[in-house]
Amino acid sequence: MSGLPPPVGIDQLSFCTAGSFLDLKTLAHAREIDWHKYYDGLGQEKMAVPALDQDTVTLAASAALPLVQHLNKNHIELVLFATESAVDQSKSAGLFVHGLLDLSSNCRVVEFKQACYSGTAALRFACMFVAGCPNKKALVLTSDIARYPLGSPGEPTQGCGAVAMLVTAHPRILALEPESGLHAQDVMDFWRPHYRQEAVVDGKYSAHMYMSTALACWERYAAATGRSLEAIDKFCYHLPFTRMACKAHAHLLKNVRGCEPTAAEVNRHIKNSLHYGRVTGNSYTASIFQGLASLLDHTQEDLAAKRIGFFSYGSGCTAEFFSGIVQEGYGLHLFSKQHGELLAHRTELDYEQYKAMFTRCVPTDGGIHTFPQGHTGPFRLAGIREHKRIYERVQNSPA
Ligand code: CAA
Repeated sequence: MSGLPPPVGIDQLSFCTAGSFLDLKTLAHAREIDWHKYYDGLGQEKMAVPALDQDTVTLAASAALPLVQHLNKNHIELVLFATESAVDQSKSAGLFVHGLLDLSSNCRVVEFKQACYSGTAALRFACMFVAGCPNKKALVLTSDIARYPLGSPGEPTQGCGAVAMLVTAHPRILALEPESGLHAQDVMDFWRPHYRQEAVVDGKYSAHMYMSTALACWERYAAATGRSLEAIDKFCYHLPFTRMACKAHAHLLKNVRGCEPTAAEVNRHIKNSLHYGRVTGNSYTASIFQGLASLLDHTQEDLAAKRIGFFSYGSGCTAEFFSGIVQEGYGLHLFSKQHGELLAHRTELDYEQYKAMFTRCVPTDGGIHTFPQGHTGPFRLAGIREHKRIYERVQNSPA
């Protein structure tokens, strides 16, 4: 037996998004903007719009259900919930999910925050935990609802979604490598004060920070590993909108090599990671892992033994470049069919329906409110009673 520690990483991953969407052609028409700006300029076609009875908890629980329903739940001793759309200032959203999934009480449950980056931090911490206790498992939940003011430049980049990842030793999908390239800097490119439902953003500055930190993180990763760009077979980026990843990747290739990359090369590296983000919109913490699911679900060639590079960016800002190796037989453990069905069975909204859903918020008066059944996954927010959120399993839900 070798003295090497076992590989740790993502054993399975699954995503969930809202049951309704707005086509960005509809939004462009309402805003009197050429729809090509959204489809081609931002690389976004649709944005997922959550119902009143859908929030980051129900999205995360619905994403996680397929991972835990056939598992001995006693093995999960850590639940990390990464979000920047928390439902409570004190209680971790993970505890609601812990209850909905009926997990063991012998468990640590914590919420992580640092804009869109915290999912990566949660994954890294979960890997450290499992590396120390290889017979235990961790559940990492990334879940967000991206909201900007109506009519603002950020509006077409809204969206929502959750990705749940089971982190284990000897993972069946992706073994993470230990090295990272990090960058942290106190900047105000995007933020959301406690009293606001919508983010405040300096859009152009945020895009500039995203691009420059991608290069800074790559340089540190390359120095730590001695690897060149050629050592990475595919790339997954944080996806505020899919063109952001295309631009950042082209910027990275150009600056590292000193010449412009071809569009074909950029596409070969990242195109398959963009399909889900293009039709759900930004899901903040979840988006980079939704990109991984998209890459694995859509790539025909066998990715076993290939190295995937990840660039995770969280405004404010913290960023990280890291990598992982796809495991032999990974294709047997994907939820590609469920992901395709989820997206195929969504309901399209017209502009007035979108606006009504956007402006409806959970009441804050401390009264007793029940919410109508929307188009959700297997869990829903049934209501709120004296400031307590009441969640329930949807009867006859598919999962
Ligand atoms: N046909 C085709 N393309 C068109 C077009 C048309 N008719 N009209 C404009 N375009 C192109 C523009 O040329 C531009 O492309 P380039 O960047 O390649 O020049 C693209 O469409 C966007 O146009 P604008 O730059 O004029 O768009 P904007 O200023 O209205 O808004 C934005 C862009 C600032 C990114 C805005 O969407 C925004 O604020 N988004 C939220 C912030 C964000 O997503 N930041 C990303 C980095 S921060 C991060 O990643 C964290 C996070 O999740 C928020």
